[in-house]
Amino acid sequence: MVQPVIQKTKVNLGERSYDIVVGENIIDDAAAYIMPFLNRSRTVIVTNKIVAKHQLPRLEHNFTENKIDYETIILPAGESTKSFSYFEKLLDDLLKLRLERSDVIIALGGGVIGDLVGFVASVYLRGINFIQIPTSLLAQVDSSVGGKTGINSAYGKNLIGAFHQPVFVLIDVTTLETLEKRHIVAGYAEIVKYGLINDQAFFNWLEINGPTLISGPGKEHLPLRIEAIVKSCKAKAAVVAADEKEAGKRALLNLGHTFAHALETENGYNSELYHGEAVAMGIILAFELSYIMKLCSQSDVDRIKNHFEATGAKSIKEFSFDIDNLIEHMKGDKKMTAGKLVFVLTKGIGQSFLSKEVNMNDVKTVLENAIKV
Ligand code: GLY
Repeated sequence: MVQPVIQKTKVNLGERSYDIVVGENIIDDAAAYIMPFLNRSRTVIVTNKIVAKHQLPRLEHNFTENKIDYETIILPAGESTKSFSYFEKLLDDLLKLRLERSDVIIALGGGVIGDLVGFVASVYLRGINFIQIPTSLLAQVDSSVGGKTGINSAYGKNLIGAFHQPVFVLIDVTTLETLEKRHIVAGYAEIVKYGLINDQAFFNWLEINGPTLISGPGKEHLPLRIEAIVKSCKAKAAVVAADEKEAGKRALLNLGHTFAHALETENGYNSELYHGEAVAMGIILAFELSYIMKLCSQSDVDRIKNHFEATGAKSIKEFSFDIDNLIEHMKGDKKMTAGKLVFVLTKGIGQSFLSKEVNMNDVKTVLENAIKV
């Protein structure tokens, strides 16, 4: 049998360090990766209804072959599962299954499953190990790495949660094959983000390869996806290793997210607007804000907009948002310090920085220009 190419990245966090492995069809060999983390041959896989149909059988087959005893908990798909009620339900389910403190939970799914399972793992019996097997592009390049876990509240997205690192992340790029293009385009925004933060060469590469990576013919997209996922995970691992709890630099990973979270909150976290779609809109707004603050050029703004358009991103113009409500949602942002909002601004592609010196009138102008035709 030809051994698949596996790319390994380490997240360096002392005794909480862990590996991220990226490859093709490695989910079919998951037991070999996971076994070292199991104290006994028993685990619980938490997933959602859609992933249960497409990817769970691959994991189950491999676990059965390798005599790993497992239970599965299948939750509804969608952002509304990241709630207090499912947090409670999942804890109760695990207690019913008598999962022990030295056992491991597996999060098989996208960002919603990863964030919810991670948060549950952070408090179950005062903390239990968990493994991420992300199956959406967004989770593979962002949310499965770095230990941010949590749920949403009516007051905003991800406002309740904990930092709890996984012990291992297994990324199989073939799990993306069953996803609709809309999900790939949404996750792609988080890849673009890494280029825009501090890696202009990566953004240049994405301008050339992005359209094929998203929907290339045949199997052409697979090596491009692996390359972009590995690059994104390495970028994220470096930031997380330097600033795990977001005392500073990690907040750069929120480029576009202050706007994005407000858009999602205003939209009620419904399926008309996925997180990654809101992030693409938020990144454009962050560049437009930087432009009207005379920090970056119009040509930078145009380049970003053209790239998102070329890769099929949704436009903010497709939605009608109440601007005053958006401003109110932004004021509830986690990055608020001493009553001031911290924005990720930019001096150009690959030159992002944090700023508390943003005038909310400028934010309002940017939103008015973007939303009102
Ligand atoms: N998604 C941003 C972070 O993990 O810090």
